[in-house]
Amino acid sequence: MKKNSILILDFGSQYSQMITRRIREIGVYAILCPYDISIQNLLSKKPKGILLSGSPFSVYEENSPLISKEIFQLNIPILGICYGMQLISFLFGGKIEKSKYKEYGKSYFFIDHSKNDLFFGIPEKSVVWMSHFDEIKDLPKEFKKIGHTDSCSIAALIHKTKDIYAVQFHPEVDNTKFGISILKNFIIRICKCNRNWKLNQFVQNTVNKIRKRVDNKKVILGFSGGVDSFVSAYIIHKAIGNALNCIFVDTGFLIKKEREKIFFLCKKMNFSIKIIDAKKRFLSILTGIVDPEKKRKIIGNEFADIFQKESKKIQNAEFLAQGTIYSDVIESSISKKLKKNFFIKSHHNVGGLPQLRKLKLLEPLKELFKDEVRKIGKKLGIPKEILHKHPFPGPGFSIRILGEVDRKKISILKKSESILSQELEKSNFYNIVNQAFIILLPVKSVGVKGDKRTYEYTAVLRVIKTEDFMTATFARLPYDFLEKISNRIINEVDGINRLVYDITSKPPATIEWE
Ligand code: XMP
Repeated sequence: MKKNSILILDFGSQYSQMITRRIREIGVYAILCPYDISIQNLLSKKPKGILLSGSPFSVYEENSPLISKEIFQLNIPILGICYGMQLISFLFGGKIEKSKYKEYGKSYFFIDHSKNDLFFGIPEKSVVWMSHFDEIKDLPKEFKKIGHTDSCSIAALIHKTKDIYAVQFHPEVDNTKFGISILKNFIIRICKCNRNWKLNQFVQNTVNKIRKRVDNKKVILGFSGGVDSFVSAYIIHKAIGNALNCIFVDTGFLIKKEREKIFFLCKKMNFSIKIIDAKKRFLSILTGIVDPEKKRKIIGNEFADIFQKESKKIQNAEFLAQGTIYSDVIESSISKKLKKNFFIKSHHNVGGLPQLRKLKLLEPLKELFKDEVRKIGKKLGIPKEILHKHPFPGPGFSIRILGEVDRKKISILKKSESILSQELEKSNFYNIVNQAFIILLPVKSVGVKGDKRTYEYTAVLRVIKTEDFMTATFARLPYDFLEKISNRIINEVDGINRLVYDITSKPPATIEWE
């Protein structure tokens, strides 16, 4: 870990990634770690400050995530946020209870003691974002209250002698007007970090590291054509040239003309890819499979088999490169205890599968968030259509066709998606929303087309707005626009006679349906 950095302990809050990103935006390197990291491991990372995140738990619950009190003896400044604040109070002997008033959303925060570094330069009264159902009833004696809101009498506190601070509100959320200034105060004034996390040196440093590590061996890269794999491929190619072998698997579950587009763009950027046409294989291994997790597992394994076979054809192939980014790393390093509670679906990541264990993993972007990858991609001259491309899941259409996948359904989905893309591009909504796609349901209903009875499939339009894809809301698109898409799909695609709009957020739903 870099010397000048901040460590965030993740207690499972939906905002933990956001805290990490905000700190990096301030210019300081930040990493998110599971809350149950050992003290020894934590110290080995040499952080200059520690943040304790929020959590869906209450500190007094039986299985709540707790930490050792040892952390307060390390002489490293600490800032607790929301659950983090309650945890600090709890561990110091304070009393936490369910509050009378649940507080979600904007509140006015009042500073009670402005003579502290955390609130340096912050007005006495400001808007903050609250999201809690517990509150501190009795403050531990080592602490002093330094702020309140109308319905939360202890909304910020400070240790009387140590650099330990805590706030009940969320400084990392845009709706907290002076949130970034508070985080800056903690990181720069209290932890004394330098703002030296800059992306400028990232590419050159990474190129040098890859060259040294790969030496004269060969690398194969599972190329999906998304921004992460494109930027990874570009950087590795810059480092080792044609020792990089990009492999693009055409599963048959791709958007119309995707394969041709990718081929063209790679050519434009001067690196070549090998296309494996595996359409028939993928369709046949999914025959009769309905369960979403089974589909995901079968597809992951097939990808791994293909990469293994390809690597055997290349002499000296020792590395498997992947476009893993920091949010993937975070997801897989969440505390095992929390993960067990929150398992949702296995995402497509083939690197860890047994077939490929002989290959060493090369993941040049694994320290970066998506917006950081885009910034680097822009500097490298990667085409806009790649940089701003919506994410597309590895298993592709197979997890957007609910139930069994067959040729007819793939063709229906391909045609519908193509209409959706055209309309999104024409209207510029493509750049306003973060992901948009169609799902085909295994449900038929009665309709009427040109005076004739129809009995055809129902499709779903899912369009979302999100910052980090961990949480999302449905996009409030104009009715006229929705109507246009519906009319075109129903009129132009045989097999669908009804289109519905998904108005569910994540959580409680996920973005993909399977
Ligand atoms: P969920 O459905 O988990 O999706 O809310 C979050 C984001 O991840 C994408 N997604 C995947 N991406 N392989 C991927 O590369 C996968 O298996 C996969 N499953 C979901 C999804 O499209 C959304 O952007």
